[in-house]
Amino acid sequence: MGSPAIAILGTGSYAPEKVLTNADLSKIVETSDEWIFTRTGIRERHIAAEHETTSQMAAAAARAALEAAQLTAADIDLIIVATVTPDLPMPATACFVQHQLGVSAHAACFDLNAACSGFLYALDTAWAMLASGRYRHALVIGAEKLSSVLDWKDRTTCVLFGDGAGAVVLGASRGDGRILGTKLYAEGAHARLLCIPDGGRNTPAAAVLDPLRTPGTITMKGREIFKIAVREMEEAAREILEQHQLSAAQIDCVIPHQANLRIIDALAQYLELPSDRFFVNLDRYGNTSAASIPLALDEARRSGRIKDGDTTLFVAFGAGLTYGSALVRW
Ligand code: ACO
Repeated sequence: MGSPAIAILGTGSYAPEKVLTNADLSKIVETSDEWIFTRTGIRERHIAAEHETTSQMAAAAARAALEAAQLTAADIDLIIVATVTPDLPMPATACFVQHQLGVSAHAACFDLNAACSGFLYALDTAWAMLASGRYRHALVIGAEKLSSVLDWKDRTTCVLFGDGAGAVVLGASRGDGRILGTKLYAEGAHARLLCIPDGGRNTPAAAVLDPLRTPGTITMKGREIFKIAVREMEEAAREILEQHQLSAAQIDCVIPHQANLRIIDALAQYLELPSDRFFVNLDRYGNTSAASIPLALDEARRSGRIKDGDTTLFVAFGAGLTYGSALVRW
């Protein structure tokens, strides 16, 4: 017998109340709705209140996922939070989430950093831990307060990102949401194309950093990332489909990382799939990094876009550069 079938038992998401439109942004930096929308597909994004933390957003999404799964905090013995914007460098944001939810001390709680691929890395990790039979129910959460690591003077990055959280509860399959497979990758050679170049323990001397930048914020070579992202997502999608002897046409819904509509359109073209096979909500959220796939999944599931019996493909890329894919049957 193989390992027990592990499934997504419930999904949840949370977005902060404040909405920042492209028109609002054009009052902060020299940009326009037309430029942002045609280059990215983004119309608006949610921005956390100053006092609102990544762990609070994560906990809100987790509560919704628990409710959907008809489980309570008492059922959880594993919490993984995928994030690049933890509440603090130490301890793990997952421990704050555990406390806020009232999850018992008999739970393993840790954070994971794989940037925008973080949710898929966390899903793979939790799946393996549950399949070992040593854990029963996991909360896998992607949560980000990216507004806190944006240079609001840099129009090439600040228009792209937003805040939010998405969560799933994993456990023994009850018949739907079964994880069929995951595939993870990383290309560290490209690590500097998308990074926060300071604030860690290997921060270069101040003189080496761009004096015009706000410290602790994201820098990105957008054009290079764009090209690599399309190639990596195609590779991650093709390889997992091949492994499971599925054709792209057999996928009912693709949930891609929500970074840029042009990247998603290019992927659809390479996979020879119509664009309506892709679930897209980046117009309303921007790129929420690790939160992007679980947030989109929750919307797709609740809106009826994903139906019982459907096969879904998740595919992501992010800083690292990390990338990956997962297949789920509902
Ligand atoms: N408003 C107006 N003009 C702008 C803006 C803006 N917000 N940003 C840049 N421009 C200007 C540039 O200065 C440039 O002007 P110039 O020609 O006078 O030099 C011009 O617009 C074109 O800039 P490009 O960078 O070449 O524009 P491009 O078409 O490549 O689009 C973008 C930029 C949207 C960033 C695109 O490259 C992209 O989406 N790349 C992928 C980025 C991405 O997905 N990152 C997320 C990674 S996931 C993670 O892990 C966080």
